[in-house]
Amino acid sequence: MSNQDLDSLKKAAALKAVEFVRDGMVVGLGTGSTAKHMVIALGEKVRAGMTLRGVPTSKETATLARQQGITLIDTDPAWVIDVAIDGADQVDPGFNLIKGGGGALLKEKIVAASAKQFIVLVDHTKRVSVLGGSFPLPIEVIPFGWGSTAREIETLTKSPVVLRERNGSPFTTEAGHVILDVHISRIDNPKELEIALNQIPGVVETGLFVGRTDLLIVGTANGVESYPAIRT
Ligand code: A5P
Repeated sequence: MSNQDLDSLKKAAALKAVEFVRDGMVVGLGTGSTAKHMVIALGEKVRAGMTLRGVPTSKETATLARQQGITLIDTDPAWVIDVAIDGADQVDPGFNLIKGGGGALLKEKIVAASAKQFIVLVDHTKRVSVLGGSFPLPIEVIPFGWGSTAREIETLTKSPVVLRERNGSPFTTEAGHVILDVHISRIDNPKELEIALNQIPGVVETGLFVGRTDLLIVGTANGVESYPAIRT
């Protein structure tokens, strides 16, 4: 399937997701190529007269949302998010996710965790029987001593850990951290791994989103499929 075909599946999933947004809602706006379609679709709703406010999960999404005429309230510490809508890099049969391919995992997790409902959008290629393998697990860490944090992660996971780079320099997140990508062949127990990783000094957040999905929307060649989940 071409990238263009995959993009149309992402767009179809995004159009389905925005059906869940009602007038007056506060919407958590995800990051990435799938979430982008959702932000544009919300912009159309706003221009058609809907009132909504957004909490963006990255500067990139904030810029797009502003261009679309969506009012942002990310600086309001008292926000109450009705629904967060975001993409994912992998989804397992229990609706657990790997996220963070774009490096926005920290804000994405804060927004998903505080939303009353979390809707995940993917094309069908993101569904896997077990997390890991083809997609490395991103972990956001403090730059200070990242090498020793990486060694601890390697010891825990028995997997290679690579500092993410962009243009030959360490990739820096919006919060000023770095990302370690863990090339782990399979994650049989995502919850246990998430808890263990969070015990390592220097780890800020992991790209494992466990038991957070309320609704999974999948774009497939045969149409859009929706799967309600029960948060564990
Ligand atoms: C951003 O940090 C990520 O978590 C994205 O949500 C994820 O990588 C999915 O991105 P795409 O929709 O571009 O595949």
